[in-house]
Amino acid sequence: MKLALSPLQRGIVSFLQSNETWLRPLLTERIFDGVDVQAEGDKLANPDVVYPDYYKQDFHSVEGGYLNKDAAITYDPITKQILVPNEDFLRQETANAIPAEAKRILDLGCGTGTATRAIASRLPQAQVVGVDLSPYMVFAARLKAQSIPNASFIHANAEELPFEDESFDAVTASLLFHETPLDAALRIMTEARRVLKPNGKFVVFDGAQGDGLAKLGGNISSALFLEPYAEQFLSSNLLNLMREAGFAKVETRSLLLIYEIRTGTK
Ligand SMILES: C[S@@+](CC[C@H](N)C(=O)[O-])C[C@H]1O[C@@H](n2cnc3c(N)ncnc32)[C@H](O)[C@@H]1O
Repeated sequence: MKLALSPLQRGIVSFLQSNETWLRPLLTERIFDGVDVQAEGDKLANPDVVYPDYYKQDFHSVEGGYLNKDAAITYDPITKQILVPNEDFLRQETANAIPAEAKRILDLGCGTGTATRAIASRLPQAQVVGVDLSPYMVFAARLKAQSIPNASFIHANAEELPFEDESFDAVTASLLFHETPLDAALRIMTEARRVLKPNGKFVVFDGAQGDGLAKLGGNISSALFLEPYAEQFLSSNLLNLMREAGFAKVETRSLLLIYEIRTGTK
């Protein structure tokens, strides 16, 4: 499935491509210099993973979306700019929402592992596992977390987790559900609940939903970066979806008006 780019998005892509030489140092992580991200990602990819259709389209104006190695190379510097006013603060707040006694934690759609690392650093006694559907994101996460012994990363679809029932104390997902269709989000939440122990906590960090400031922010980012599911996300309600997946004590905390940390209990 492939979405047509709007003229603005096409303009941004061609601007980035034609100015790649001087933009590249600004838009890419230096840790990838001299590293063959394509080959490394292909090497670690699990051949049994089946990519759902929604995942095979362009995201963030990167052709091929997360199945293009450039998505992993450009993710961190761009995310740092987008997560206003301060990415570290938002990552820390998310990590703080996880119960301090959790010993085994799963981070779904972990991307390059920034949230996973914040959790692993806050809870050094816990084992934190990141899962992502892009082998290039998983490679990036592993590369960045080499000095963090309690974080590990695997290539898997969060809709079909390769873990036993009741095997985690907490499950998190940061910035995942604005990028998935609602039916996939529900399947992922159902899987999150399956792998949680009784009383385990589900922590979801993402944008606010509804009208107002959330809608303005969502519309700006989808106009600039091509967020195929932003509209669906803004007009839906993750709290209801969490309840539908079977979570109890579902609540939310607004962060700086444009973000929310939603929590639920198994
Ligand atoms: C916007 S990124 C968020 C990354 C990271 N959690 C963060 O906070 O920076 C969304 C991530 O979700 C991943 N993703 C989307 N659908 C997924 C699925 N079904 N299973 C696992 N990962 C998925 C993408 O590959 C991407 O890395």
